[in-house]
Amino acid sequence: MLADKDRIFTNLYGFQPWNLKAAQARGDWDKTKDLMSRGQDAIIEEVKASGLRGRGGAGFPTGLKWSFMPKEPRADRPSFLVINADESEPGSCKDREIIRHDPHKLIEGALIAGYAMRARAAYIYIRGEFIREAETLFAAVQEAYDAGLLGKNAAKSGYDFDVFVHRGAGAYICGEETAMIESLEGKKGQPRLKPPFPAGAGLYGCPTTVNNVESIAVVPTILRRGAAWFSSFGRENNKGTKLFQISGHVNKPCVVEEEMGISFRELIDTHCGGIRGGWDNLLAVIPGGSSVPLVPAAQIMDAPMDFDGLKELGSGLGTAAAIVMDKSTDVVQAISRISYFYKHESCGQCTPCREGTGWMWRVMERLRTGDADIGEIDTLFDVTKQVEGHTICALGDAAAWPIQGLIRHFRPELERRIRENGGALEAAE
Ligand code: NAI
Ligand code: SF4
Repeated sequence: MLADKDRIFTNLYGFQPWNLKAAQARGDWDKTKDLMSRGQDAIIEEVKASGLRGRGGAGFPTGLKWSFMPKEPRADRPSFLVINADESEPGSCKDREIIRHDPHKLIEGALIAGYAMRARAAYIYIRGEFIREAETLFAAVQEAYDAGLLGKNAAKSGYDFDVFVHRGAGAYICGEETAMIESLEGKKGQPRLKPPFPAGAGLYGCPTTVNNVESIAVVPTILRRGAAWFSSFGRENNKGTKLFQISGHVNKPCVVEEEMGISFRELIDTHCGGIRGGWDNLLAVIPGGSSVPLVPAAQIMDAPMDFDGLKELGSGLGTAAAIVMDKSTDVVQAISRISYFYKHESCGQCTPCREGTGWMWRVMERLRTGDADIGEIDTLFDVTKQVEGHTICALGDAAAWPIQGLIRHFRPELERRIRENGGALEAAE
C-alpha cells in the first residue's frame, strides 16, 4: 500500500479547501520559478526519466511526447498545450476529483509543462457536464492570475504564459484529441486523421501537445521530488503512482492513489472493503474504463494493475477505472448497454464505426434476449474485427473490444440464452 507521504494528491477527498492559500500550504506553487529555471530541456529529460506515461488511457510516454514539440517555435506559429479534462469514459472519475479538490496542481503543472515545451498558452478543455468543477477551475485560474502566477512573467519566471478554460458541450468524441482541437477551433468535434499528430499540426494548425489532466497535475511533484522518486514505484515500463477509480459491486467504491502494479485484490481489499458478498461472488471486471475488454474473476484477482499486466490478459489499464461486476450482473446486458453508448457517441464520420456500432448493438440486444442464431455469435465477432483498426479514431476499437471480451469469456452464457429461447439453435446445426 502506498504510504501517505508518497501521495501526490494530498487533497483528493477535499478535506481541505482547494483555494490558492490552502494549496500553497500543501506545497503547491512552492518556488515554481526555481523549477522552471532548470531549463526547458532539463525538465523534459526529468519527465522522461520518471517513466511517466499518459494517464488519459493510451499510456504514451509523456516526456517523449513533449520532445516532439519545436525547440524554436516561429512567431507566426506558436506552440500550444491542450489539457484534456473532457473525462467521459464510463467508469472514469479521477480528473474530476483533481479539478474539484486540487486544481492548483493542474494549473502549476500547466505552466511548467507549457514552459518546457515552449508553449504560448494552455487550453483546458473541460467536460460540459462538469459544471461545478468548471466554476472551481475558472476561479482557481483567476486566483493564479491575481497572484502573478500566470500571465506576463508568470511566477516571476520571465516567461509569459496564459491558461484558458474552455467548456465542452457534452459530446464524448470531443475527448479524442483531434476532435477536441476541432471543437476548440469552433468547429464540429470530429476526429482528424493522424498523422499528422498534433505536435506537427494541432490547434489552429500550430504545434500542439494534448495531455490528460492527471499527466499534467503530477509534473510539479515529479520535479520537486525527482524522477528517481517517481520511478521507484511500479515496475519497468509501468512506473509511478496512479489514480485508480473503482465502481460497481465493491463495498466502498472510491478514487484512490496507489502504486502502479498493485494487485487487483490488494486494491479492492485495502481501499474498497472487498467485493460485495465476498471474493467468491466476483464475476468479472472491466479494469480500465468501458473501452477495454472485461476480464473474468479468476484471471483478474491477482493481476497487477498496470499497462503490461492487463495487456497480458487481453485487456488494458486504460484510465484505471475498474468497473466491478458481481454474480448478480447480467453481463450480456452490461456489454449491450456499453455498445449502445458507443453507437450513440459515434460521430458518424467513417462507415465501419457509423454503421458497425449500430449493427453490433442490435445483435447484442438480440443476444441479450436470446433471440438470435448461435452462428451469429461468430458473425458478430467477425464484424468487431472489421471495425477494429479500420476507423479514423479509437472509438471504433472501443466499441469492438468489449464485445470481443464478452464472446471470448462468456460464450457459454450467450449460447445458453439462445438455447433457452428455443428454435434458434437449429439454425446453427
Ligand atoms: P493513441 O494511442 O492514438 O495516442 C496517444 C497519444 O500519443 C496521443 O496524444 C497521440 O497524439 C500520441 N501519439 C501516438 N503515436 C504517436 C506518434 N507516432 N507520434 C507522435 N505522437 C503520437 O490513443 P488515443 O486515441 O489518444 O487514446 C485512446 C485511449 O483513450 C483509449 O485507450 C482509452 O483508454 C482512452 N480514453 C479515455 C477517455 C477518458 O475519459 N479519459 C475517454 C475515451 C478513451
Ligand atoms: Fe467518428 Fe467513429 Fe470514425 Fe471516430 S471511429 S471518427 S467516432 S465515425
